[in-house]
Amino acid sequence: MAKAKTVFSCTSCGSQHPKWTGQCQDCSDWNTLQEEAALVSTSSKPKAARFEGFAPKSEVQKLQEVSVKGSPRSPSGLAELDRVLGGGLVAGSVILLGGDPGIGKSTLILQSLSLLSNDKKTLYVTGEESAQQIALRATRLGVQDADLDLLADNQLESILQVSQSHRPEVLVVDSIQTLFTDTLQSAPGSVAQVRETASRLVRYAKQTGTIVILVGHVTKEGALAGPRVLEHMVDTVLYFEGERNSSFRLIRAIKNRFGAVNEIGVFAMTDTGLKEVSNPSAMFIKREQKDATGSVVLVSQEGTRPLLVEVQSLVDQSSLANPRRVTVGLDNQRLAMLLAVLNRHAGLSLYDQDVFVNVIGGVKVHEPAADLAIMLSVLSSFKNKPLANDLAVFGEVGLTGEIRPVQRGMERIKEAEKLGFRQLIMPHGNLSGARSQNQTVAAVSTLEQAVQKAFE
Ligand code: TYD
Ligand code: MG
Repeated sequence: MAKAKTVFSCTSCGSQHPKWTGQCQDCSDWNTLQEEAALVSTSSKPKAARFEGFAPKSEVQKLQEVSVKGSPRSPSGLAELDRVLGGGLVAGSVILLGGDPGIGKSTLILQSLSLLSNDKKTLYVTGEESAQQIALRATRLGVQDADLDLLADNQLESILQVSQSHRPEVLVVDSIQTLFTDTLQSAPGSVAQVRETASRLVRYAKQTGTIVILVGHVTKEGALAGPRVLEHMVDTVLYFEGERNSSFRLIRAIKNRFGAVNEIGVFAMTDTGLKEVSNPSAMFIKREQKDATGSVVLVSQEGTRPLLVEVQSLVDQSSLANPRRVTVGLDNQRLAMLLAVLNRHAGLSLYDQDVFVNVIGGVKVHEPAADLAIMLSVLSSFKNKPLANDLAVFGEVGLTGEIRPVQRGMERIKEAEKLGFRQLIMPHGNLSGARSQNQTVAAVSTLEQAVQKAFE
């Protein structure tokens, strides 16, 4: 038997080093090397990795002759999930679903699979929970009668063997971190195991045309546990996220070879599972308090869907030499820039004030169209003057204090109207086409005009 030795694997890029160093020499990340009792028995590896019976023929083909017929999308059963996937599941694709523990990944998978199993052969491999636990959850969700096949196992070779004889069209592995292969000696969840098991499952998906969904855990820093290469190997990376104390759950695509990446799907976690929220705007702007200072409704755009969210600010006298600039759901640097513009073009200096800005409901807004709403919210808090209750705002602010048009203006206007916002402050450049009679629109082209309209 070969002598066991240790190697140090980078959790970020997956490269291996004989010695521990503070910085990975390959990807230059710090503190990412982990010791592993890894030993690859090279002689048996290629054999075990080969799937007899359906190995693809290696031959050169003409692009025009490649058949693309076999890749229609099949709906996942949940419209919000389909939206993020770009219209449904593609045969032979591998989807990685990441998220914090307890966020509801297994619940989402079970709900979707129970619907999918009506017309597709499905196999749910659980390495984390027993079959009994899954059955209990299914009862809670009211889907215990679904025609779904379960396999409680975490050894890759036996899972692949079962799949080969069972031939499911959709294979789910919950979770990739619990899987291990016999060809490696390191523990399940280690970099080497995650990488090897995932790459074999990817190969299996491509060779058999099976849809493979891998569930993955997220580390404290918010990245998927295991090497970053996991994200490169799969076709689609979805993140399931949400605040612990809120029932909202957002699913977003970080990478998608078969669709756009900026779509989000919205769910609410209830005591009988996840419910789809097809009109999220109405949920994010339930304002209890009237005339609250510092609160502004922003018409944001998430993917192809406009989304109304509430931006709240608090500006307060600071006792620190360096006053605080804190944002939740927004970019900190952007806030610093906007405060500088406020100083220069609206005569508002906040050098001795703490500024806190928060987007309600755990939503993250990273588009410049939020600029104007942030500024008006900061101003409203500083002046201690509330803005009109039925006012919605969007627009980008430039460094010279000009209000710049943003994309999809018309859709934003319509969404605001649909939700009963009868006043609108927006860029002049977005004013085109017919407008509804029951909306008062203030189209502005400078910050000064916007401030005047908001507080008149
Ligand atoms: P789970 O799907 O097990 O999370 P993950 O697989 O991401 O770790 O979901 C666990 C949480 O969801 C748990 O805290 C209980 C809650 N939950 C509900 O609120 N309602 C439900 O119907 C179910 C099944 C779970
Ligand atoms: Mg789970």
